[in-house]
Amino acid sequence: MAPRPDLPWDMAGLERMARSQLTNEAAVYFETTATYPPSRENERAWRGWRFQPRVGIDVRHVTTETEMLGTTMTAPILLAPCAFAGYAHTEGEWAVARAAAERELVYIVSSASSKPPETVPGQARATCWAQLYVPADRQEAAGVVRRAEEAGFEAIVVTVDAPVGSLRHVGFVPYPSDEEPFSFGRPGGTLLNAGITWQTIEDIAGLTSLPVLVKGVLHAEDACRALERGARGIVVSNHGGRQLDGVVPTALVIEEIAAAVADRMVVLVDGGIRSGRDVLRALCLGAHGALVGRPYLWALAAAGEGGVDLLMQRMCLELENALALTGCRTVADARRDLLRWHEAY
Ligand code: FNR
Repeated sequence: MAPRPDLPWDMAGLERMARSQLTNEAAVYFETTATYPPSRENERAWRGWRFQPRVGIDVRHVTTETEMLGTTMTAPILLAPCAFAGYAHTEGEWAVARAAAERELVYIVSSASSKPPETVPGQARATCWAQLYVPADRQEAAGVVRRAEEAGFEAIVVTVDAPVGSLRHVGFVPYPSDEEPFSFGRPGGTLLNAGITWQTIEDIAGLTSLPVLVKGVLHAEDACRALERGARGIVVSNHGGRQLDGVVPTALVIEEIAAAVADRMVVLVDGGIRSGRDVLRALCLGAHGALVGRPYLWALAAAGEGGVDLLMQRMCLELENALALTGCRTVADARRDLLRWHEAY
């Protein structure tokens, strides 16, 4: 196991520490959103949900353990697919996978990875799901899915909220490497597919026995479409605010989306999750779990694998603590009536 680093608990401090290790180009690439200067609306929206705890409940034994799509995990906290972790640390996705394995958490590996994605699940036998931008060509798509299966990925996460790129003011920074970033066999080609439709999701679901999740859903009707077309889960996401300026924060739509489908499929959410308390907020609003993006990139930049390990351990601890303090013994006890909306005083 990597040596224990000393990281600030607060995210602003962690981000500052990461910045001191990153080139300005990399720091900007990580923080950027479609809004300039970068929007923090995702983060702020979660904090509008205040806890209204229940007391008088025996919380001597609290567990965050969760089962999802056949995988048991320490907590319903997943590491989001973030392109080019190699910007943060030379060990890139390998370091993230080892830390995820250490914490028994699921890592969703980006198809725009700085290490060949096929090599990532083998790192410390992490449970990895493959995030894909699905090629327009059906044969090519079938090949991509087959390669993900052969590499040992345990689920396929199809990102649908980037049919085209966004107009980020800083632009896209290509990964500085001689090798093409891995794109499941599509070197040189753009990863994005403007022709992606619900038929594409049905086709992918028909190609594999692995569970398929759709990432980038922001509307309850689209969640129902995903379910009808064979997806086993969705990620309610606005891509960390990186695609569309003015997009709704996920904390404001998760409840209605979860209400529509969470009894029939896995519902995850991301965007601005910065603590175990935010994860509990998401659970109370009906999600089965939450993804963390930028914070683990900052921890990786600040302190490598040990940094990611420590950050994820803290998030699990924060969730366990918040469960106890709201009168919950398990993640299944998280309920809507433990929250009140109060944006600001
Ligand atoms: C991302 N995200 C992303 N999503 C995806 O499906 N494929 C990808 O390759 C990437 N790449 C990527 C790079 C970087 C630097 C960031 C910050 C994000 C989006 C990501 O999976 C997730 O939706 C957001 O990062 C969640 O928001 P927070 O936790 O970063 O606020």
